[in-house]
This record gives sequence, C-alpha cells and structure tokens, in this order.
Amino acid sequence: MTELISHVAVVSASNELRERWLFALEECSQNDPVAPNSCDYRFLPCESAEQALQLAAGDGLLQAVIIDTVTIDGADELVRSLKALRAELDLFLAVDQNSEFSSHAVELLDRNDDNISHLFRQVQSAIAHRANTPFADTLRDYVYSAKDAWHTPGHSGGASLRDSPWVSDFHQMMGEHIFNTDLSVSVQVLDSLLEPHSVIQEAQDLAAEAFGAQETFFVTNGTSTANKVIIQHLLGAGGKMIVDQACHKSIHHAVILFGVEPVYLHASLKEEYGFYGPVPKQHIYDAIDSNSDARLLVLTSCTYDGFYYDLKPIIEYAHQHGMKVLIDEAWYAHGRFHPDLRPNALECGADYVTQSTHKMLSAFSQASMIHVADPDFDEHRFREDLNMHTSTSPQYAMIASLDVARKQMSMEGFLQLSRCMDVAARLRAGIDKTGVFRVLKLEDMLPEELAGDGIRLDPSKLSIDISASGMSARELQLELFEDYGVQVEKVTHNTLSVLVTLGSTESKVLRLLNAFKKIAIKANAGKEVLRRSVPPLPQLSAFHVLPRDAYFGKAKEVSLLAEQHGLNEGVIGAISADLVVPYPPGIPVLIPGQEITDSIARFLLNLYHSKNGMEIHGLVERGDNAFLRVVDRG
Ligand SMILES: Cc1ncc(COP(=O)(O)O)c(C=O)c1O
Repeated sequence: MTELISHVAVVSASNELRERWLFALEECSQNDPVAPNSCDYRFLPCESAEQALQLAAGDGLLQAVIIDTVTIDGADELVRSLKALRAELDLFLAVDQNSEFSSHAVELLDRNDDNISHLFRQVQSAIAHRANTPFADTLRDYVYSAKDAWHTPGHSGGASLRDSPWVSDFHQMMGEHIFNTDLSVSVQVLDSLLEPHSVIQEAQDLAAEAFGAQETFFVTNGTSTANKVIIQHLLGAGGKMIVDQACHKSIHHAVILFGVEPVYLHASLKEEYGFYGPVPKQHIYDAIDSNSDARLLVLTSCTYDGFYYDLKPIIEYAHQHGMKVLIDEAWYAHGRFHPDLRPNALECGADYVTQSTHKMLSAFSQASMIHVADPDFDEHRFREDLNMHTSTSPQYAMIASLDVARKQMSMEGFLQLSRCMDVAARLRAGIDKTGVFRVLKLEDMLPEELAGDGIRLDPSKLSIDISASGMSARELQLELFEDYGVQVEKVTHNTLSVLVTLGSTESKVLRLLNAFKKIAIKANAGKEVLRRSVPPLPQLSAFHVLPRDAYFGKAKEVSLLAEQHGLNEGVIGAISADLVVPYPPGIPVLIPGQEITDSIARFLLNLYHSKNGMEIHGLVERGDNAFLRVVDRG
C-alpha cells in the first residue's frame, strides 16, 4: 500500500503570512494525535492564483487550498477556476473586514486569527469528511464485533457452508467476508436501503456532495432499474417522452411498462464501423418544438462507444419547453472527476442522472446511483417509486462498495483518471504503431451530420479498427482470449473495444500491447481481405402501435426462416410485439409497435446465422428455427 498523504496549498502573495502559516500548519500536523481518517500532510506554498491553478492541474494529491483574499486578486475567480478544475477540492478563504468575495461552497476563516491549530483542524476535518465511509465502516465494525446471527440470510455468515464436505470449497474460494458481510435489514445498525435514516443516508449524502447532486439514491439492481424508477416517477401513468431510439433497453422496458408514448429520435449511424452515434442536435430541437406536450427528454451520454453530448444547450432548450431531462450516464460516472471530461450531465443542468458506478468505478456489479437535481422533486413519491423496484433484501457489500467508490473518486479520482488517460494515450500510440491495428479518433467514428454538434469522445473507451488484419473481430477476440489471456469489452464487425478503467494496471497495458504487436506481425505476413461477419445496422422503421399495446396485446409467432434457411418474406410488413435486441451492445433493432422492414428482417437473419457470440434478446429460438412475435392484426 502506498503512503497516505494529502497536499494542502497556502496561496498568498505575502511572504510573511505564507511562511508563518506553512510553518505553523506543519507544526500542527507533526504534533497531531491520531484523528479519524487522518493522514500525513504536506503544505505547499503558492505565491499567486496562477501557481495555485498550476498546482491543482498537476498535483493529484492536492486535497485543500487556503486562499488569502487580501493579497490574492480575484479570489472569487480563483475559487471558480479551482472548482472547474477539481470539484472535489476543499477551499478555504482567509478574509478580513475589507475582503470582497461572493464564493459559495467554501469555508471562511479570519485572516487575523493566529489560532492556526484551529485552521489545521478545519482542513483536517474537511478532508476527513470526504474520506469518511459511514456505511462501509459500520459494516466492517459489525463484522468484527462477531455477533451471533439468528436471522437471514440462511448461510448465517457462511456457517452453513464452512464445514460442509460438499460446499466448503465455495466458501473458501469466495472468502469469508463475502459471507459475513451478507446481512439483512434485521441488523438495524446498518440502516435500511428502503428507508434510510442513518449510515446509508449519510453515505448517500456524501455521494450527493461528491457527484454534485441535490440528492443521491443508491440502487442495487443496476442502472437498468434506475432508469425504470425515474420514468415511473415522471411518467408512471403514461405521457409523452422524447427519447433516443438507441437508448438502453431498460428505457424501452419502461416505455412498455408505463404505457409511455415515445417520440423516437433517430440515432446517427456509422455504418463503416457498426456504431450508433448520438442524435444530431437539430433533430432534438425539432422534436422538442413539435412535441411541446412531451414531459421528458431522455438521452444517453456518454454512449457505450464513448460519445458525449454538448448537453447544456440541449437541456436548457428542453427546460424552456417545460420538459424534465433524464441523462443515462451509465458509462460516465467518472465524468465529474477530471477537467478533461467535464462538464457532466448534472453540471449541464440535468434533472435526473443515472450512473452504473460499477461500470467504470470501483463498485460491485449492479451497484448504481440515481442523482437528482430536479427543482420540483417530490421525495416521498420518488421513494415509493424506488422502493417498488428495490429488493427488501439488498446486498450490503454492494452498498458498501458504492460508499467506497464515492470515497475513492473524491479523494483520488483526479489522480486515478489522469493515470487512466495516460494509459489510454499509451495504448493508442502502441496500437497505432503496429501499423495493422488503429485506434479510431472522434472524427473517424462520428457520423458526418454531427460534425458541428460539439460531440466529444471519452478517451477511456478505445475502439480499434481491425480491418487491415484480415481477421474478423470475433476471430481476433478469440485469439486475444485464448492465446493472450485478454478479454475485451465488445466487438462490431470490424472493431474491437477495450475499456480503460481505474483497474487498468501497467502489466495489463504491457500484455495487451504485446498481444496486438504479435498478432499484427502474423497478420502482416499473410494479408487477407476482411471477412465481414456482421451485417450493417438497419435504420429505425415506422411505428403503428404504442409499444405497450403491441407488447401486451394479441400476438402470434412468425418464423424468421424460410426453406433453405432463407428469409421468410412473410415477416416483412408485420408489426413487432417484442423488443429485439442484439447484445452487446443492447440497442434494439425492433421495438414493440415497430414495422419489420426488409432490411431489419435481413439484418436479423444474418445475425442469427452468423451469431458471432452475440445474444439476440427477444428472438424466439426453437430447435433450428427462430421466430418473431408479431402483432396479430387478424
Ligand atoms: C447506456 C446504458 N444504460 C443502462 C445500462 C444498464 O446498466 P446496468 O448494467 O447497471 O444495469 C447499460 C448497460 O450496459 C447501458 O449501456
């Protein structure tokens, strides 16, 4: 484990004050008895606002900045710039009677107060506050208090498995703490996810502070559930919603469940690489203009492939038209913690944001968060909506992992993400250097119609063009897995994607680059033409029935295949009753109520024959045949 150290900057143009305070702060930290969440401190001098900004932009250990407002001109501006760089930093303004400032979210201290040990305590307490993990600590303390369990779960802290000749190996493999942290709502000191008042609420409050929300809710069934909860909350009894057709299937499920009337925005398509892109800004504005009765706009930012919108003007436009905005940030929980990734959706004014904390950060699978910033938020109703989708037996380790993931981002998010970006840049350079594989740039990936829309690309998501290798993406994926022990995130017909996360270590970088280098040499030796293994993505077709009516109404099954495995042309023109979703990436080619066109039917047929390791959710497979459930118009 590396040393735990916090840097604190003292920004003053007065040599005398700066030196005096630095010396006194250092003395306080040397004489500090062990305080909760304490660490070693290093106090750093800055003579000007510029120096302070430089430090904040480069020093990942910086946690707090003390600004002398009397000698530093434009302290307010410095506060704004520091917050824009590093939202998590604790800022202290040393003021006197004549100081002028209007900054919020800063601590004030009297510049003429010589009690530096009080200032030290303030700094220490602010840092300790962020480093606190109220739920994870209570869970740990409870486990170490070794109570006897006479409650669920039945394995009782692992006791049911530990000594069994048949299943003790599972206990051993998983480790004791996976079992003894698996507790239940009977343990009252651990609070209740369904009605939090103590440590879960405190953990959620800390998450709201860290992610910049009005309120944050922990979700233990992924963003798949989080999206449904919000749509139920806003449109539970139906209503109109403008939504990107290429959104995650959970949003489409919510449309079906709650009888929502969707206005679909057509996702842009980059056929060359098999990506869905964002929706052109003008199309979003047009949909808002012509659907003034819509109550919600839903967009995904960033997408699976890393595209993120210039959200601020879009959200403002929706708000001007009386719509709430939900942004699915399943892939963007890290967005707030590095200036190169900001602004994220909350910072652009979104009312509701869902994040799969588990996708990019250090939480367990299924651990997600809902962030709320809706000025009209009805907390009681929201709690009821959330509880309808929440198990009464949530996984406590998952809740603890949300608490810890939040702490990590607040304490070292900037440092870790800076490292991730460096890893991503080195991967790019190394992969490009093979001369065979090439990491796609934004301009390669973005459909032309979006060129002026301010779309950006999350550097942690690398899409690699493999077309020059002569291999199919599936072959390359298998070779990487079987010969090099590398599992990638996903493939299209000619790309392969890898995700750089906080867990991407140097050794993994080394192995991945080595694998690409070796495969490239081999591929170069016998160049072949790419064999396209997945057909091009089809465009969205017309809707004839509301998704809910199509899904729950009278339906029948129609075979996709005709004799000789060709297409049964009888499906063309039928109306789908199901959501048909190739997975990954989980973007539907058919939504209930949508017409099955020739190109959609052929796409599904080709996909079914090539399969390519992909699941096709919604396709009914029986023996050697595949069927589509369609609306029975008879
Ligand atoms: C855009 C998007 N939203 C939501 C989800 C669902 O997230 P979770 O896996 O946390 O349920 C996914 C999953 O891949 C996704 O890609």
